[in-house]
Amino acid sequence: KGEREENETEKGLRVADKGFLNTAVISSEITYIDGEAGILRYRGYPIEQLAVHSSFLETAYLLIYGALPSRKQYNIFETEVMQHSMTHADAEVLFRAFRYDAHPMSILTSAFASLGSMYAEANPSLQGQNLYTKGDAASIAAMDKQIYRLIGKATTLAAMAYRIRQGRDFVVPPAGLSYTGSFLYQMDHLGEEDYVPSPVLEKALDVLFLLHADHELNASCTTVLQTASSLVDPYSAISAGCASLYGPLHGGANEAVIRMLISIGSPDNVPAFVEQVKKREKVLSGFGHRVYKTSDPRSFIVRKTADEVFKVTGKDELLETAMRLHDVAMSDEYFIKRKLAPNVDFCGLIYRAMGFPLDFFPVLFAVPRVVGWLAHWRQMMLQPGGVKIWRPRQIYVGPTKRDYIPIDSRV
Ligand code: ACO
Repeated sequence: KGEREENETEKGLRVADKGFLNTAVISSEITYIDGEAGILRYRGYPIEQLAVHSSFLETAYLLIYGALPSRKQYNIFETEVMQHSMTHADAEVLFRAFRYDAHPMSILTSAFASLGSMYAEANPSLQGQNLYTKGDAASIAAMDKQIYRLIGKATTLAAMAYRIRQGRDFVVPPAGLSYTGSFLYQMDHLGEEDYVPSPVLEKALDVLFLLHADHELNASCTTVLQTASSLVDPYSAISAGCASLYGPLHGGANEAVIRMLISIGSPDNVPAFVEQVKKREKVLSGFGHRVYKTSDPRSFIVRKTADEVFKVTGKDELLETAMRLHDVAMSDEYFIKRKLAPNVDFCGLIYRAMGFPLDFFPVLFAVPRVVGWLAHWRQMMLQPGGVKIWRPRQIYVGPTKRDYIPIDSRV
């Protein structure tokens, strides 16, 4: 029984867990994180091994289907994903409706939702609510189709959001390039006949995509599952995930890191900035994590990748300030006591060196995270016993029962 009649429940103890600090809402076989030890594994494979030996698309297959693919399975998957990278001509109309200065995450969020309106056959409201949950060959095939489409079109929609902001025409996804190669081609191509993306940057982006592909039940993945639990179409669920990712405490943090470094100005100003953070006057973006209480294992791979990229692009002028910030924060009692360490968001320095505009950074997080969201969506649709709608409870702290007073009788 709760303390007040409004909180009484027949279902036993109701746990208040603000921000879901210690609430598990699913059992999952996808990603394992040990935040104390700094361990991240996809389907059991350490992220460090995958970053060196695998590729983004192979890892996507692993996350979604649970095992590394055979050569044949990989070829089919890659072909399906790449063949679904084209968008309908109607999508262009949507993109052209945005203001020139619209944030690309707003555009991407809308674009994913609009896809739902283009594929009526993917909509459980129209096709029967067990479209994806039967577990038979037809429902698996229906799910696979949406998975190929969403991964294939993610880079195309993102590149369109990039180009519309620059007043450039859209580029048709090319044939014969890798997933990240095609993405770079669609963004950078200015009509040159012999244009090929830099292999170093293509590989670096592939590694960063792999690192961002999943991170279990973060805010955006939870949002996708919460939304999908009503059995809405996956395009709407992915769009909801995008909206959640956009915020500065989550996917917007890689953009916020660069804005912070620019505002600090020079390595000499770092100690004063850190003092302001400790007084809670400023936020130290790119530090801290709900789960990691030590360095985020992805941050070491980001650092190695940065070295490779900087060999091609030259060092980013903000790098020294970032390094100084790292050294000052990591030796300060305030941060040590709270177990605050760098998270993956310092990859913004790589994106900046590669020439991406600041507000495009969250898009570079959203595109690969589509894979993780879809892996969780598929797992949810196929969970034994069917899908249960997510409907948390609250602790009610508003007024107790009172009677309505007509407007002219109120004082
Ligand atoms: N700078 C300074 N202090 C911090 C920071 C930070 N970046 N992060 C947490 N703290 C402090 C809090 O003020 C709090 O101090 P207190 O106990 O004295 O009140 C303590 O550390 C615990 O922090 P919480 O806010 O309770 O941690 P929570 O798990 O709720 O938040 C979050 C995690 C949102 C990531 C937080 O660390 C943060 O805001 N970081 C900066 C934004 C960021 O980088 N986000 C990206 C996250 S990773 C990702 O999405 C890829």
